[in-house]
Amino acid sequence: MSIWDSVEYDAHEQLCFFSDEETGLRAIVAIHSTALGPAAGGTRFKPYDSDSLAIDDALRLSRAMSYKSGLAGLPVGGGKAVIIGDPSRIKNHALLHAYGRFLNRIGSHFATGEDVGMSVADMDIVSQVSPYVGGTTAGQSDLAAHTATGILHGLRAVLQRRFGRSDFGGVRVAVQGLGAVGWGVAERLHAAGAALTVADVREDQVERARRELGAQAVSPDEIHAQDVEIYAPCALGGVINARSIGEISAGAVAGAANNQLASADAGVQLAARGILFAPDYVINAGGIIGGLASTTAMPGRGKGSLLPLEDALAAIGPRLAAIFERSAVDGLPPEVTAEAMAREILLRGREGVSA
Ligand code: NAI
Repeated sequence: MSIWDSVEYDAHEQLCFFSDEETGLRAIVAIHSTALGPAAGGTRFKPYDSDSLAIDDALRLSRAMSYKSGLAGLPVGGGKAVIIGDPSRIKNHALLHAYGRFLNRIGSHFATGEDVGMSVADMDIVSQVSPYVGGTTAGQSDLAAHTATGILHGLRAVLQRRFGRSDFGGVRVAVQGLGAVGWGVAERLHAAGAALTVADVREDQVERARRELGAQAVSPDEIHAQDVEIYAPCALGGVINARSIGEISAGAVAGAANNQLASADAGVQLAARGILFAPDYVINAGGIIGGLASTTAMPGRGKGSLLPLEDALAAIGPRLAAIFERSAVDGLPPEVTAEAMAREILLRGREGVSA
């Protein structure tokens, strides 16, 4: 099949391949849509089993960024970059500089920041040669904290929709992953009175959650199967899959991790079991909302008009509630409704662009 017709390609505007013989850099930048504004999305650095898997990853992630920014009402398009290779083996200053020079060729159409395999320190190095880099030490506000705050607003909407209540007192939540976002979510839930069950592969974080948040700890293999109201995946994607679905007894799945559903069928099955799913790119939009100011300050990327940050983060709750409502009316899983709504927003943006 030609790449233009592949499901993943999905009318992407631009797909760029870069290679630099000297440093071994092989990078792909996918720009799904600039209908709402210049694209933004992180740079992921990891090995892939094949080049086509790397392309698919970039395409899927950039489309999700279009949906995320569109639904969040941001004047930002969707893009994503991947650098192919083992960062622990090939990542160095020269390679990151070569990457920055490639970013300059795309110019203001794409702004990027850290993702899996890239750190703030790495983005600092890329920013030495390219102005189209956010998430650096200099411009850093704590994006993970904004993401966690947004998740809490989303969880309240979940609580209301699924359990008919608005306070977290005594609500049992299983948090998978206590990293930058997961810890922030756990901390906020604890402060709101929730009872936490947690898992992480990092024993120190688990121990800290026991000590500071009164959390109960379980093994990473069992966290999805806890007897809780809400299961909050905050570590890896693909955790809702054929193996895990039957074991989930929570009434709702809502957390930070990107691409939680391993397949479209996984979402259909969750809905069939009466488990409410909060589409990840809606509930985890706090990071891109918090990062807007730094991307609009880049050359040629225009002004973003937006609500004050706290209001924009709080709007995640009502947005999710509207998606739940429409999905119930239409008899569709929430992620299907969210995608349809995102596509409507992009279409209106495109019509606005060409008008
Ligand atoms: P992080 O790398 O800081 O934290 C991930 C945590 O998950 C680590 O503590 C890690 O030890 C743990 N972990 C890894 N494998 C695990 C397993 N099998 N079981 C349990 N825990 C495991 O990453 P961060 O920034 O907290 O992101 C978490 C998720 O949220 C990712 O999927 C990310 O793509 C997504 N996300 C993050 C945003 C941000 O602002 N950082 C924004 C939107 C989405």
